[in-house]
Amino acid sequence: MSESPVTVLGLGDMGTALARALLRAGHRTTVWNRTAAKAEALAAEGALTAATAGEAVAASPLVVVCLLDYDSVRQVLTPLADALSGKAVVNLTNGTPRQARELAAWAAGHGARYLDGGIMAVPPMIGTPAAFLLYSGSPTAFADHRAALDLFGESHHLGEDPGRAPLYDIALLSAMYGMFSGVLHAYALVRSDGVAAADVAPLVGRWLTAMSGAVDGYARQIDSGDHATGVASNLAMQSAAYRNFTSSARDQGISPELIAPIGHLMARRVADGHGHEGLSGLVELLGGGWPGASPVTNVPGQHN
Ligand SMILES: NC(=O)c1ccc[n+]([C@@H]2O[C@H](COP(=O)([O-])OP(=O)(O)OC[C@H]3O[C@@H](n4cnc5c(N)ncnc54)[C@H](OP(=O)(O)O)[C@@H]3O)[C@@H](O)[C@H]2O)c1
Repeated sequence: MSESPVTVLGLGDMGTALARALLRAGHRTTVWNRTAAKAEALAAEGALTAATAGEAVAASPLVVVCLLDYDSVRQVLTPLADALSGKAVVNLTNGTPRQARELAAWAAGHGARYLDGGIMAVPPMIGTPAAFLLYSGSPTAFADHRAALDLFGESHHLGEDPGRAPLYDIALLSAMYGMFSGVLHAYALVRSDGVAAADVAPLVGRWLTAMSGAVDGYARQIDSGDHATGVASNLAMQSAAYRNFTSSARDQGISPELIAPIGHLMARRVADGHGHEGLSGLVELLGGGWPGASPVTNVPGQHN
C-alpha cells in the first residue's frame, strides 16, 4: 500500500465501486457507510473501516463523497465541518448546479478545497475505459489528486465554477432519459400487439445508432440560430406524422405520457410559422437563451 490515503463516504453501489478501484490500485482506503454491514465485503478486500464518518474523514487528505443526494451529504458533512479543514472534498453525489455552488462555498468557508463531480458511468463501468467523470471546482485539488481520480475513469476538469460539472451531468442524463423514454414507449407499443420487446430490440438499437448523428447536427443549428438551412425533414411534416404516434398509442391502449410533450411543442412551433425548419428549433420554445459564455474545450469526445 504505497499510494496516498483516500476516504470514501457512502458505500452504495457506486461508492463501493469507487472504493474498490482505489483498493485495487493500492491506495490505503478508509470507508464509511451509514449502514455498516455494507463495508464488510470491502474490509475483506483490504479496506479500513471507520466507525464514524468523522473517523473516516480524519484518515485521509482526499475525501470522496458518494451518497444518495445532497440532503444526505449535508447530514453527514455538517457535523464534521471543522474536520474538513485542509482536506480535498470530491463530491460525486448527483445534484444541481446550485446545490454544488452552495456546498462549495460552505466547504471553502471551513478551509476545504471542493470538487464537484458527475459520474458518466454505471458501477460496473468504474475503472474501465468506458467510464468518464466530469469535475469542476478547485483546480489545485484536481491537480493534486488526479492520479487517484483517474482510477475511476477518464477525468475531465470543466473549470473553477463548481456548478459546471453537475450542469453537464444533468444535461447528459437528460439526453439519456429522453432516449430511454422513447425506448420504453416503443416496447410498450409492440407489446400491445403481442410482439416481444426482444424481437424489436435489435432494430431499435440500429435505428438509434443511425440517428445519433443528430447530436452534432442539432448542436450546430442551435449554436448558429439557423434551424432551416439544409433541413431534410421539415417540422410541418414531422408534426403531422407525430399525431399518428399519439393516435397509435391510444388505439393500442397505451398511455402516450412518455412521448406526448414533444408533439405539443412541434405543433406550437409549426403554428408559430416555423414549419419549414427542423426539429432543433424546438429549443427556442424552452427558454434559456445563449448568454455568450465561452464554451468549455476540455470535453470528452470533442476534438478541436
Ligand atoms: N448507480 C449508478 O448507476 C450511478 C451512476 C452515476 C451516478 N450515481 C450517483 O451516485 C450516488 C450514489 O448512487 P448509488 O448507486 O451508490 O446509490 P445507492 O446504492 O442507493 O446508495 C445510496 C447511498 O447513500 C447513503 N445514504 C442515503 N441517505 C443517507 C443519509 N441520510 N445519511 C447517510 N447516508 C445516506 C446510503 O447509505 P445506507 O447504505 O445506509 O442506506 C448509501 O450508501 C447518487 O447520487 C447517484 O445519483 C449513481
